[in-house]
Amino acid sequence: MFRLHTNGTQNKVATVTVLAALVVVVYVGFSQNTSNSKITFHQVNVREFDTKTKPVTRLHKYKYSWPKCQRNTSVANISGFDSLPGHIKDFLYYRHCRHFPMLLDLPDKCGGPEGSADVFLLLVIKSSPGNYDRREVLRNTWAKERLQNGVWIRRIFISGTHDSGFEKIRLNRLLEFEQRKHKDILQWDFHDSFFNLTLKQILFLEWMERNCPHVHYLLNGDDDVFANTNNMVVYLQNFKEGGRKHLFAGHLIQYVGPIREKWSKYYVPVQVHEPEKYPPYCGGGGFLLSGYTARIIYKMSHNITILPIDDVYMGLCLQQGGLRPESHPGVRTAGLYVIDKEADRYDPCYFREMLLVHRFLSVHMYVMWNSLQDPNLDCTNYYKGH
Ligand SMILES: *[C@@H]1O[C@H](CO)[C@@H](O)[C@H](O)[C@H]1NC(C)=O
Ligand SMILES: *[C@@H]1O[C@H](CO)[C@@H](O)[C@H](O)[C@H]1NC(C)=O
Ligand SMILES: *[C@@H]1O[C@H](CO)[C@@H](O)[C@H](O)[C@H]1NC(C)=O
Ligand SMILES: *[C@@H]1O[C@H](CO)[C@@H](O)[C@H](O)[C@H]1NC(C)=O
Repeated sequence: MFRLHTNGTQNKVATVTVLAALVVVVYVGFSQNTSNSKITFHQVNVREFDTKTKPVTRLHKYKYSWPKCQRNTSVANISGFDSLPGHIKDFLYYRHCRHFPMLLDLPDKCGGPEGSADVFLLLVIKSSPGNYDRREVLRNTWAKERLQNGVWIRRIFISGTHDSGFEKIRLNRLLEFEQRKHKDILQWDFHDSFFNLTLKQILFLEWMERNCPHVHYLLNGDDDVFANTNNMVVYLQNFKEGGRKHLFAGHLIQYVGPIREKWSKYYVPVQVHEPEKYPPYCGGGGFLLSGYTARIIYKMSHNITILPIDDVYMGLCLQQGGLRPESHPGVRTAGLYVIDKEADRYDPCYFREMLLVHRFLSVHMYVMWNSLQDPNLDCTNYYKGH
């Protein structure tokens, strides 16, 4: 049966409101220096907050703090380095960094590694600290944690840090407050930027391996999409293997390669990725994958140099693992194209059979989600050409 997070669980410990991570009370234990990587494992104490009484300090077995990853100054020797845009130089300097201290953790999100088999669909939503409004809307619409069609949906936002100085401190506090209330944030101490999205993805997969290895399926996506999670559950329940077989489905993109135009947001010079081709991949706005596939991707990622474009990087990992992404027509990461110019693009009838649509304005989310729950929604007269 479902053992997850029912209110008022067995013991007192469970009633403690955990605001994981914050206040890292220095390093207690073992350090393990591998000569070449110089990675040190620091076990740390993490402050948990009991809302009724005072903070308690507990030892979390899997909490690691990491020494600040040093920039690789040798990359400056790469030919043509000096003429690269600033953010690409920055990317190259820190490309090798794969570990960052965790600021907010949720080790029990899935009911522990064993309990994680009770999570059917884990929503993993990339959200930068400043996107408070989007997170709030999602919590009240498609990303609501619930028992749907007899199976559990759980939600996690994954985040880095914003900026530096006061702004960083203030936004970290925001996430702490949200965590206290919703317990749905994983945060690492790295600069949350477009070119660090792959890093964010890898950090999540590492976390999943440790805390939720047996979840059946995951929706991996952005915080500006509309996801019809009810439909997703129905679609995923068609598979009898329950997440133990390969699945990676979304808006399939293939026969493309790196954009070599300097002005583009997606500019990837040869110094970053030499081949002219990308493997097939699914648009990063949102894709569905099985727990099985997520773990293979994680395993493969150890051996693949970070590429800043996160969805392409997933494609590289799949390829290395001998797996293919597939297309699902209900996933529209390039948006929904409505032919009839007079029609309302936000007509719920267009979204009724979709799985996911990218670039969806927050302000329309609540109406859309609730309209779709309405059993009397009448779509007999709408034009289906989209
Ligand atoms: C690269 O640059 C560093 C200093 O930036 C220099 O010490 C080194 O000799 C250069 N060559 C190589 C191959 O790393
Ligand atoms: C640093 O950059 C150089 C040049 O690209 C590369 O050969 C070397 O492997 C990098 N070092 C690390 C630790 O990634
Ligand atoms: C990624 O994050 C690290 C750690 O904060 C930072 O040093 C680096 O500059 C970031 N890279 C990009 C491309 O933003
Ligand atoms: C890791 O990558 C290298 C180079 O791409 C390849 O030769 C090697 O076989 C890979 N190892 C594994 C375990 O996949």
